[in-house]
Amino acid sequence: MVQVPAGSRPDARRWLVTGASRGIGHAVASLAASRGDRVCIVGRDPGIAGIAAAMGTDVFGISADVTKAVDVARIAAEVEARWGGLDVLINNAGLHRGGGLDRISDEDWEATLATNLTAPMRMVRALSRLMSEGGSVVNVGAVVGFRGFPGDSCYGASKAGLTGLTRVLAVELARRQIRVNMVVPGFVQTEMTATISERARKSIIGRIPLQRMGTVEEMADVCWWVAGAPYMTGSVVFTDGGLMCNL
Ligand SMILES: NC(=O)c1ccc[n+]([C@@H]2O[C@H](COP(=O)([O-])OP(=O)(O)OC[C@H]3O[C@@H](n4cnc5c(N)ncnc54)[C@H](OP(=O)(O)O)[C@@H]3O)[C@@H](O)[C@H]2O)c1
Repeated sequence: MVQVPAGSRPDARRWLVTGASRGIGHAVASLAASRGDRVCIVGRDPGIAGIAAAMGTDVFGISADVTKAVDVARIAAEVEARWGGLDVLINNAGLHRGGGLDRISDEDWEATLATNLTAPMRMVRALSRLMSEGGSVVNVGAVVGFRGFPGDSCYGASKAGLTGLTRVLAVELARRQIRVNMVVPGFVQTEMTATISERARKSIIGRIPLQRMGTVEEMADVCWWVAGAPYMTGSVVFTDGGLMCNL
C-alpha cells in the first residue's frame, strides 16, 4: 500500500476512533491516516496529542473518558468545531474485567457496562448528529458476547448488549442512510490480553482453527473495509480465525 500524507486525498473521510491510544484502535486510526483520511483519536492517555502527531499531519487527539457524559459532549463539540461533520465513528474503547460471579464486584460490572455499552450509545447519539447520508458507525464487539465463556459475565454481557445496540441503531439510522455494523475480533495480541497466563493462552489458541492469535493490523483492515461497505448495515463481522465455529 502506497503511503500518502494524511488528509491529502481530495475525498478524505473524517474518522473518529475511540480507544486509539494503543491496541486495535491505534491500528485502525493509523491505517485511516496512512490512506489519506482525516482522523480524530480519543483516549484517556494525557499524551494523546503526541500519539496523534506521530500518526500524521491531519490527525488530532482528544484526551477524554468516554464513560463521562460531559466528555462525550466535549468530543462532539470539538469535532464539530474542527470539521463541521463526521463520516466514520469507530466505537473501539473497551474494558475487560474478569472473574466468576462470586468474585466480581458491582464496580466491575458497572465500569465494564459503562465503557463497553453505555459509552458507545452516547457516542452514537452525540456524533451521528454530525453525520450526513453515507455516515458509518463500527462497533467493536467480542466473541464472548455470543458464547458463554466462564469468568466473563461483565465483559460478555456488555458486548452482547453492544450487539443488540448495533442492530437497533442500524434500523433507526438507516432512515438517514447511516450504517451501523459490528466487527468482532477473536483473540488479539494487545495490552488487554497481555496478562493472560501462558496456560490459558495456549488453551485459547488451541481452540482457534487457524491456530494463532490475530494481529491489530488484521483487525484494522476489516474495520476499514466494513466502515466503507455501502450496502452493509446491522451486520456482525467475525475476524477471529474461526474461533466462533469451534467454541
Ligand atoms: N484484544 C483482544 O483479544 C480483543 C478481543 C475481542 C474484542 N476486543 C475489543 O477490541 C477493543 C480494543 O481492545 P484492545 O485489545 O486494543 O485493548 P487495549 O489495548 O486495552 O486498548 C483499549 C483502548 O481503550 C481505551 N479506553 C479504555 N477505557 C476508556 C475510556 N473510559 N475512555 C476512553 N478510552 C478508553 C484505552 O485508552 P486509554 O487507556 O488511553 O483511555 C485504549 O486505547 C475493545 O473494545 C475490546 O473489548 C479485543
